[in-house]
This record gives sequence, C-alpha cells and structure tokens, in this order.
Amino acid sequence: MVQIEPFAVEQWMDAYENTPGVLNIAETCVASISIDYLQALCIDKSKPGPLALSKKLTYGAIRGSNTLRERIAALYTEDGVEPLSQDDVLLTQGAILANFLLFYTLIGPRDHVICVYPTYQQLYSVPASLGAEVSLWKLKKENRYIPDITELETLVKSNTKMIVINNPNNPSGSTIPGNVLGAIVDFAKARHIIVLCDEVYRPLFHSLPRGKEAPPSILSFGYERTISTGSMSKAWSLAGIRLGWIASRDKSIVEAVAEARDYTTISVSRLDDQIASYALSDDVRPNLLRRNLDMARTNLELLDRFVQKHKDVCNWVKPTAGTTAFVQFTQNGEPVDDEAFCLDVLSKTKVMFIPGSKCFGHGKDFKGLVRIGYVNDTAVLEEALKELSSFVGQNLSSRI
Ligand SMILES: Cc1ncc(COP(=O)(O)O)c(C=O)c1O
Repeated sequence: MVQIEPFAVEQWMDAYENTPGVLNIAETCVASISIDYLQALCIDKSKPGPLALSKKLTYGAIRGSNTLRERIAALYTEDGVEPLSQDDVLLTQGAILANFLLFYTLIGPRDHVICVYPTYQQLYSVPASLGAEVSLWKLKKENRYIPDITELETLVKSNTKMIVINNPNNPSGSTIPGNVLGAIVDFAKARHIIVLCDEVYRPLFHSLPRGKEAPPSILSFGYERTISTGSMSKAWSLAGIRLGWIASRDKSIVEAVAEARDYTTISVSRLDDQIASYALSDDVRPNLLRRNLDMARTNLELLDRFVQKHKDVCNWVKPTAGTTAFVQFTQNGEPVDDEAFCLDVLSKTKVMFIPGSKCFGHGKDFKGLVRIGYVNDTAVLEEALKELSSFVGQNLSSRI
C-alpha cells in the first residue's frame, strides 16, 4: 500500500471552505468566472460562445485538441527563443495530475529529488511516496523567499534526478528572477538533472519592483531537460474545468509521460478543452489576463494597507506575483499558534485562511504564518479584512 503524507492544505480547504457564510480568503485562484462572464470578455461580440453544442461527445483527441495545445504552446513565446510546438504539450486534468504523472513516470526509489520549501506539498510528498529521497531547499524570509543558488552544492547527490521549483511561489508569492533561474538551469545541465518548474501562477507577475522584468518560463533557457506545468485554474480563473498541462522540449520526457498518461486519462473532457481553447484565444485571453492582473494589484494594495495598519502584530514579505501571501501574526512579540489562530478567526469572524506550519511546514517551521489568498472578489477581501482587523485589534497585542 502506498505510504503518503496527508495533503494538509487540500484537507484544510475541504474541511472549512463550505462553512456557512464563510469569507474565503484561502482560495488560490484569481476569482473564478462563469462561461457567461468569459463570453462577455470576448472582443468580437458576434463570435459564437465556447461550446459547440452539436459536436458528439467522443473521447476526442487523446493528447488534447490541436487548437488548445497550440494556444498553450503560444503562452511560452519569448523573444529570441525557439517557439514551442503543440507536440511539446500534453493536457491533464489540472496541474495536480500533470505534476503527479511527471513524478510517477520519472521518479523511483533509487532517485534523489531536491524541492523548494515552502511550496505546494504535492511537489515533495509525491516523490517521497514513490520511494525517492527528497531534500528540501529551504526558502528564507530574509532572502525574500528566493532560492539561494549556493545551497544547491550542499544538497546535490550523485543520484539527484530532479530539481523542483515553483515560480511564482505558493505560498509566499515570491518571484524567482531570471538570473537565478538561469543559474539553476546551468547547475542542473552540468549534471544532467531534470528541472521541473510548477508555473501554475504564471504569468501573474503583477507587482514586481519598478525596473524588474518578469522572468521567462523555465523552458526558455536552452536546456531540453526542463519541464513546465501549467493550469487554467489560477491565472485564468477556470478551476472548474480541471484543465492543466505538461510542457517540455524533451521529446523523450513527453513520450514517457504520455505512455503513463494512457493509464489515467485517455483524454481530458472535450467540453473543458473547448472552454480552455476559447479562454486562450486572441479574442478573449488579453481581456481575461488584464482583468486578473488588475484585480491582483488592487487586492494586494488592500492587503498591504491591512498589514501596515497592524504592523505591531503582523509582518510579511510583500508578494511580487501569484495570488498568495505568507503573513505572520504575533502575540506579545511571539508567533501565534497559527492553527489555533485560524480556527479562532474562522469561528468568530467567518474569515478563512490557511495555517502555515500545519499546511506548509514540518514541526515548527513557519510558526505564526498564515497563507492568505488575496485575489478573490475584491468585495469579499474587503469584508474579510474589515472583520480580521477588528479581531486582531481585540485579540492580539504587541506588549511584552
Ligand atoms: C503550485 C500549485 N501547483 C498545482 C496546483 C494544482 O492546480 P490545478 O490542479 O487546479 O491546476 C496548485 C493548486 O493550488 C498549486 O498551488
């Protein structure tokens, strides 16, 4: 029987997100949208909607429609970089299955995997469940949660098969800059190590410091053994269609994963494929992305105001990208018990977010930190922060 750690963040969401009247600021998707809303974003109003209602619901194309795979490939277009082709893309039911299939296909008991931490737990717990040895590459607050490349030397082993990174990062909302990505790729290339970058929050680089450019995808560094996973859930607000992907320029990786995928997927839903194709079409994609970047910036400023107002009991590294922030609360100068804090806040105010040490850490790591998903509907965030502000005012103190 498989030995796998409980997936703490998913279990927390499942337990509390349907609390009646919940003010959910735990969600990591940019506020989800309906098909009607998607259609309203279309530049050409005379165009038909996404669903071809008369099309028979066969399995469709096994790897996904050409149209959708072309549009996903086009998301990786970068000046001076060879374009990606539709054959470099495989569709999956969400990025969660994309990541799972990659580990299932490529990682085994004799392998060693290096994975950034904190991150989405799947990225280190699944390789461990497959018998691999996993070393956590700890991201530090004082380094703005950007991986320190010099530490790779101490983590690498002769059997290191894969380095796993996540850009933008969940939960901290940090961005790995292009020069650091380049250094990771150079390190991996010299040792023939695969680099998997979970890029589900790409291209939400909404709040980089002035003058800093959004980093390219991991596929743009001229090293074949790089893999990107992506999703319609986060940056494209369509989690309900369960559509993600694997993209790589390495044909042998794509083919190996496709063989394993035959046993889990056959094809993704044709309806999901059509909706995703529509969302990523030239008529819709720019408006959807603009809406989501604007919402992320607006909401981040609201959260920033909250953190500033309560800075005696609350601190963070302000996110530069993605949809999540890692915020630490303190009581009398000491980090709160984040699990008890989240439960107390939920029961007294209906505001829901995620305890950091329980859902992103081992033992005492990330004590007092909570993950806030701040790119929900702005009105929900405003209401939640109002409630949280009065809770914090009444319950937390900086006096020692
Ligand atoms: C980093 C990361 N990867 C993958 C996923 C899975 O996303 P989905 O399966 O909805 O595409 C999530 C969801 O929270 C995530 O945060």
